[in-house]
Amino acid sequence: MEILDSRLETYLTSTCDAESALLKQIGRETHLMETMPHMISGHYQGRVLSLLSTLVNPQSILEIGTFTGYATICLAEGLAANGILHTIDNNEELHERVERYFDSSGYGAQINYHIGAALEVIPTLNEIFDLVFIDADKKNNLNYYKMVIDKVRSGGLILIDNVLWKGKVTQEENDKQTEQIRLLNQYIAQDKTVQKIILPIRDGLLVIRKR
Ligand SMILES: C[S@@+](CC[C@H](N)C(=O)[O-])C[C@H]1O[C@@H](n2cnc3c(N)ncnc32)[C@H](O)[C@@H]1O
Repeated sequence: MEILDSRLETYLTSTCDAESALLKQIGRETHLMETMPHMISGHYQGRVLSLLSTLVNPQSILEIGTFTGYATICLAEGLAANGILHTIDNNEELHERVERYFDSSGYGAQINYHIGAALEVIPTLNEIFDLVFIDADKKNNLNYYKMVIDKVRSGGLILIDNVLWKGKVTQEENDKQTEQIRLLNQYIAQDKTVQKIILPIRDGLLVIRKR
């Protein structure tokens, strides 16, 4: 089940800002070259990420799950002039192409691209983040949340993708991944140290603000 029907999705996309030529190219090449192109944030969610990042104007961003760098560049659009974005992915094969995209974006010097398992890389980052985007292996979402919450400043944002899991969280699905996502949503719903809301866009984007 898609969260938004396709006519509404087309309308939302046609009424938000256009993608840059580079983001369009990344989208096109991701669909041509990758076996799971649907993992990309894409035009509408990309504009949401860009807008949220611009509102925060972060000095420091962490993205968990780079894939082809689409969301990385959208988030980088909101960086403060001397801000830094760390992004982590364990897929070495995409490395060269994604580095090229980052260089073409004009944000290359501000992006620290880490190749490795996020659970191992995150503890090596001694920074306080203004914005974190969690979008890697869903089974570890709660681990990532617990690992980063103390690294986020008060007032900072954590965004978590795919929290509606194609609507399965509301249905009688009891597979392991759906259960893990329900658990995450429940945990965060009960966490009084943060404000939170799930935006029903694409596959569900959980927006969390640390108090
Ligand atoms: C959904 S995609 C990320 C999409 C990207 N953020 C975007 O919006 O365009 C998930 C990525 O997480 C990476 N990944 C999965 N498990 C990981 C792990 N344990 N550590 C680091 N990266 C991981 C995958 O290689 C994949 O590229």
